[in-house]
Amino acid sequence: MSLLQVQDLSVIAHNNGHDVTLVDRVSFDLAKGEILGLVGESGSGKTMACRGLMRLLPSPSLRVQGGAVRLAGQDLLALDEASMRKVRGGQLGMIFQNPSSHLDPLMRIGEQIAEGIRLHQGASKREARLQAIEVLRQVGIPDPGQRIDNYPHEFSGGMRQRAMIAVALGCNPQVLIADEPTTALDVTVQAQILRLLLDLRDRRGLSIIMITHDLGVVAQTCDSIAVMYAGRLCEHGSKYDLLARPQHPYTAGLIDCQPATSSGHALRTIAGQPPLLDALPGGCRFNPRCPQIGTLCTEQLPDLAGIGPRVACHYPLGDRP
Ligand SMILES: Nc1ncnc2c1ncn2[C@@H]1O[C@H](COP(=O)(O)OP(=O)(O)OP(=O)(O)O)[C@@H](O)[C@H]1O
Ligand SMILES: [Mg+2]
Repeated sequence: MSLLQVQDLSVIAHNNGHDVTLVDRVSFDLAKGEILGLVGESGSGKTMACRGLMRLLPSPSLRVQGGAVRLAGQDLLALDEASMRKVRGGQLGMIFQNPSSHLDPLMRIGEQIAEGIRLHQGASKREARLQAIEVLRQVGIPDPGQRIDNYPHEFSGGMRQRAMIAVALGCNPQVLIADEPTTALDVTVQAQILRLLLDLRDRRGLSIIMITHDLGVVAQTCDSIAVMYAGRLCEHGSKYDLLARPQHPYTAGLIDCQPATSSGHALRTIAGQPPLLDALPGGCRFNPRCPQIGTLCTEQLPDLAGIGPRVACHYPLGDRP
């Protein structure tokens, strides 16, 4: 059975008197120890979908609508706020897109990690400090017994990112949501952080949702991939199938745009722009940019039905020669 089940999750923004759907009925499962890559262009709703499932939306004008989010069988959308707070930072950890804005600059790194350990595991101050040192060691901070008393500004960018992971791991989560965990880092540090996440999966059976723009990172790290376009999932499957035989023309376009696969000197891009969410085209949302549009595409919104390998396209690509 899957550890996390997200079913028909929508996130709605209420601005200037009307509703706009930012995330539209997204469903996926995550098994224990699975790493799922959530990919898609900027603005496709990756962050909102994950913040929605954690019920951690960044503004009061945003709300989660309908659906269910089950973590080990418990429906998170049905919990009261106090119980939800225990799950967040407990069973469910998050690494945010920008670590600097989520570490408290006035609080020592060690206290920020220990706070979660005390809160979620009921550890004493001394125990929590010892555990915090151990977590810092696990994320590869040198000399953690000394470093634990540093403030965030005394850490480099890569170390702050590790500290952010340490804060999330301090509570021993079952599921970690990592929003662009390596985008701002140089290549060496990026590789170290990815290795760390893989190692945590292997040792602790941690399940991870990894949000990223970088299909190279996905290819190195993930087991499965979910592709978002204009607020909807358009394809979901195993990494190998999806990268080798993409079924959705948008997925194929994303793969063709990667530096490693893009031929010629200039990097290829998918022609056109994603639609505005309050002015969506009829039918499939990708149809204005799709290279192989058919009659159904402007008439019906294709569904991403069922679980397992799925594609929301009326004319999936099949096996390409
Ligand atoms: N407070 C808000 N009110 C209304 N719309 C919002 C609000 N915050 C974000 N959005 C919109 O929600 C959509 C999804 O944004 P989201 O941040 O989830 O995208 P993303 O896929 O994570 O992009 P990126 O790769 O750039 O991080 C975007 O169209 C964005 O403009
Ligand atoms: Mg984002």
